[in-house]
Amino acid sequence: MKPRHFTSLLDLSSEELRQILNRAIELKNTKGREYQPLKGQVLAMVFEKSSTRTRISFETGMVHFGGSALFLSPRDTQLGRGEPLQDSAKVISSMVDGIMLRTDRHETVTTFAQHSSVPVINGLTDLEHPCQLLADMQTYLEFRGDIKGKTVTWIGDGNNMCHSYIHAAQLLDFKLNIASPIGYHPLPAYADLAKDRVTLFSNAIEAAKDSDLIVTDVWASMGQEEEQKLREVAFKDYQINETIMKAANADALFMHCLPAHRGEEVTADVIDGPQSVIFPEAENRLHAQKALLEFLLV
Ligand code: CP
Ligand code: NVA
Repeated sequence: MKPRHFTSLLDLSSEELRQILNRAIELKNTKGREYQPLKGQVLAMVFEKSSTRTRISFETGMVHFGGSALFLSPRDTQLGRGEPLQDSAKVISSMVDGIMLRTDRHETVTTFAQHSSVPVINGLTDLEHPCQLLADMQTYLEFRGDIKGKTVTWIGDGNNMCHSYIHAAQLLDFKLNIASPIGYHPLPAYADLAKDRVTLFSNAIEAAKDSDLIVTDVWASMGQEEEQKLREVAFKDYQINETIMKAANADALFMHCLPAHRGEEVTADVIDGPQSVIFPEAENRLHAQKALLEFLLV
C-alpha cells in the first residue's frame, strides 16, 4: 500500500486538516508522557537549510511519542555527494518509519515521496511550508475560534509561506488578501488555484483593512541572502507597523513564522505587542506536528 505523504497542505482534505488541528490542541492539553504510539519508530530528518523550530519540534515530538529522530545533513551523508534522490529515498525508507525533509528545491521532496515506502513530510521547500500552516491555523483556532469566513492579510514576499497560506485559505475557507511589491507576488500556479478566495493588492494598508489576522515573513528567505539589499528597497512600504495594525480589525492577531528581523518586515512595537501571538505560534509547531505524526505514522 502507498504511504500517505505531507508534501503540501493540499495532501490533506479540509476535514483531515480540521481533525489534525483539533487533535493538536488536545495533545497540547494532555499532560504526562504515557501515550507513546510511536514506540521504537524512527523519523529521518534531512536538512539542506538551517532550522531551529522545525528540527526541535520534530525531534521532541518523536521522543514524546516514544520514538526517535535522526538528524541528517547533506554535508555528512551521500546526499551531498550526488547519490540519486530515488536511490536515497528507497534506501532511507527501507530503514526508518518516516522522512522529513527541508530542501532547496520542492522537487526533492516530491521525488522522495514518489520513491519512499514510508510517509514523507515537507519541512519547508522553496515553494511551500505546510508544517508552519498547521501551527498557524492551530494558533488562530485557539485564540479566536474557527477561521472560516474570516479575512487574513499576508503582507510581504509571495514566498513559500504565502503559497501555503493560499492552500490554507482553500481548505479552511477564509478570505486571503496578499499585498506584495511588483515582481514579488505569489506564483500564478498558486494564486490562480484559489482565485475566489485570494485578492492581490499593491497597497499594504488597503490589504489590511477589516482583517482578522495580519501575517508576514522575512523579505529575503534562506538562499536569497545576496538579494537582501535589493529587497530592502523593494519592500520598504510593506513593513508591518502600527499603521497597518490600526487598519485591521481591533482584535486582529499578528503572526510571523520566525526567525524575524525587527525593524525590517515588522516593527518591534508590533511583534512584541499585545496583538502578536508569535511565541504560542512557534510552540504550536510541536503540538501540530505531533498530531501530524500520529495521523501519518500510527
Ligand atoms: N519557522 C520555521 O520553520 O523555523 P525554523 O527555520 O527555525 O525551523
Ligand atoms: N520564508 C522563510 C521561512 C523560514 C522559516 C525561508 O524560506 O527562509
